[in-house]
Amino acid sequence: MNAKHLELTQVGIDFPTPKGPFTALRDVNLNIKKGEFISLIGHSGCGKSTVLNIVAGLHQATTGGVILDNVEVKEPGPERAVVFQNHSLLPWLSVYKNVELAVKQTLRGKSKAEIREWVMHNLELVHMTHAIDKLPSEISGGMKQRVGIARALAMEPKVLLMDEPFGALDALTRAHLQDSLMEIHADLGNTVIMITHDVDEAVLLSDRIVMMTNGPAATVGEILEVNLPRPRNRLVLADNPEYNHYRHEVLTFLYEKQKKVEPVSARKSGTEKGASSSKTDAA
Ligand SMILES: Nc1ncnc2c1ncn2[C@@H]1O[C@H](COP(=O)(O)OP(=O)(O)OP(=O)(O)O)[C@@H](O)[C@H]1O
Ligand SMILES: [Mg+2]
Repeated sequence: MNAKHLELTQVGIDFPTPKGPFTALRDVNLNIKKGEFISLIGHSGCGKSTVLNIVAGLHQATTGGVILDNVEVKEPGPERAVVFQNHSLLPWLSVYKNVELAVKQTLRGKSKAEIREWVMHNLELVHMTHAIDKLPSEISGGMKQRVGIARALAMEPKVLLMDEPFGALDALTRAHLQDSLMEIHADLGNTVIMITHDVDEAVLLSDRIVMMTNGPAATVGEILEVNLPRPRNRLVLADNPEYNHYRHEVLTFLYEKQKKVEPVSARKSGTEKGASSSKTDAA
C-alpha cells in the first residue's frame, strides 16, 4: 500500500545571521495523508511559518526535504497554494480580477466563459459573488480573507497552506470563516496545513494538531489526533467532554510542557522575531 502523500523528512534549516547560522528547525518529521487537516501550533517564533514556507517552496531546507506525491518540493508551485494572514490581494484589481489572475495561471488554454464560470464558482464557495467588482480597499478584512481563500482554492491545489488565516479577524467573523472552511474542506477534500495560535480553532478544525517545541532548533513535540466526528458544530462541542479534553491537552503542552519563560533582556535584542512572546492568544 502506498499511502504516502506529503512527507517532511528530517527537515532542518539554518538561517544565516551576522552572528553565524541560526538553526530555526531541526529534524522535523511529519507524514500527512491526502485530505488530512493539520494544524501547526506553538509559541511565537518557534518556526511554524518556516515549516509552512518550506512546504510552499519559498524556503529551502538545509537538511532533509519535503516530498509531495513522490515529487520533491524545490520551488513554489500551483499545487501548493498559500493563504497568508494579511490577505495579500493586489490592491489595484477587483475581487473578480484577483481570483481570475490566479485562475488564468493554472487553467491555461480554457475559454473565457470557462474561466468566468470557475472564478464565480470559487467566489460562491466563500460567499463573495456580491462583491466581484469591488476593490480590496472597499471590502472588510474578513471579506478580503475570503477572497484570498477563493483565490487559493481556484488553483485547485493539492495542498492548501494557511498561515494564521483568521488571526487578524474579530471572533464572529473568524467563527463564520472557520465554518465555511470546514464545509469547503468536506466538499473538496484538499490536504490542509494551517498555522494557528487559537486552541479552539485547532481542535475544531483539525484531524491532527502538530505541536511544536520552542526554538531554536524547534521540532515536532507532540501530535494530537482529534477523533471528533464530522461535521463538527461549535455549539454542540462546547459542552462535549472529549472536545474539552483535546483543548486541555494542547493548553498543557503550550503552557506547561513548552512553557515559555523569557528573560526581560531577551526582549531588548529585537533580533528574534518572536522575542516578546508573552502574548497568549490561545487563552
Ligand atoms: N529569514 C530569516 N533569517 C533569520 N532568522 C529567521 C528568518 N526567518 C525566520 N527566522 C527565525 O526563525 C525562527 C522561526 O521563525 P518563524 O517565523 O517560523 O516563527 P513562527 O512560529 O511562525 O512565529 P509567529 O507565531 O510569531 O509567526 C525565529 O526565531 C525567527 O527569528
Ligand atoms: Mg509565523
